[in-house]
Amino acid sequence: MMLLSGRKASKALKETLKNKIVKASEKYSKSPSLAVILVGDNPASLSYIKGKKKACELVGIDYKLYHLKEDVSQFELETLIVELNQDEQIDAMILQLPIPKHLDENYLIDLISREKDADGFHVVNQGYLYQHKKTIYPATPKGIIGLLDFYQINVEGMNATIIGRSNIVGFPVARMLMDRGATITVCHSKTKDLKSHTINADIIVVATGRPHILTKEMVKSGVIVVDVGINRVDGKLIGDVDFDEVSKIASMITPVPGGVGPMTIYGLLENTFELYLEHQESKIKSF
Ligand code: GUN
Repeated sequence: MMLLSGRKASKALKETLKNKIVKASEKYSKSPSLAVILVGDNPASLSYIKGKKKACELVGIDYKLYHLKEDVSQFELETLIVELNQDEQIDAMILQLPIPKHLDENYLIDLISREKDADGFHVVNQGYLYQHKKTIYPATPKGIIGLLDFYQINVEGMNATIIGRSNIVGFPVARMLMDRGATITVCHSKTKDLKSHTINADIIVVATGRPHILTKEMVKSGVIVVDVGINRVDGKLIGDVDFDEVSKIASMITPVPGGVGPMTIYGLLENTFELYLEHQESKIKSF
């Protein structure tokens, strides 16, 4: 069994990205910048954004946090997003999810301008993705594909089963694997007999948020397993896959933590850099 280490892959990829950012920042006399909007003090979100800040600092992206109170109004949040949309110093932004229930998440995500959408969640960026056009890809699916590329895994012709159908992971990663020639099956909470869809899969991506939903009885020998889940159980981080057992059967598998997580952060860094380049190049064209 080979471990698909997101920690190792992202470390190497961040070095390359850092060099590109140093050169571009000199050329354009400006570093890329990412604004992160956090509402409230969700412990998981606080931990995620700490990782994002550290990674930005490492590669030379200016990181700016807007930490708002839990009871911030819809109007205040909309005003901030509109201001950041107009701020030329800011290349990219994210609204860290989840946000409190009194706020209209879908509306706010689409209010972030397409040109600053570092998460690739905007309806237009997702529309481009589903039409197989160049776009800003959501960070986690982009990170997963980056990890497969790093380990030179070609999915063409493979049977790929994705468990989870979210707009953030399951659905876009299905599309991206299909674009690379895999035959896809998307399973979800209403799927009957999950095992019948996983047992013949060559590659399985699990993104459900349900600890150990994928067990050894459900996979064939030599399968490749990508575990997107990060669940805190009894103070320990575990994935959606029963790693100890499935890793005895799989040919390759991501660990949790240290698998998809670091690659998601890397996807966000790359998106920020791509948006920054778009902005710098469009400035040159408009002179
Ligand atoms: N919460 C958990 N993952 C993510 C992510 O990739 N982006 C944002 N904005 N919030 C998240």
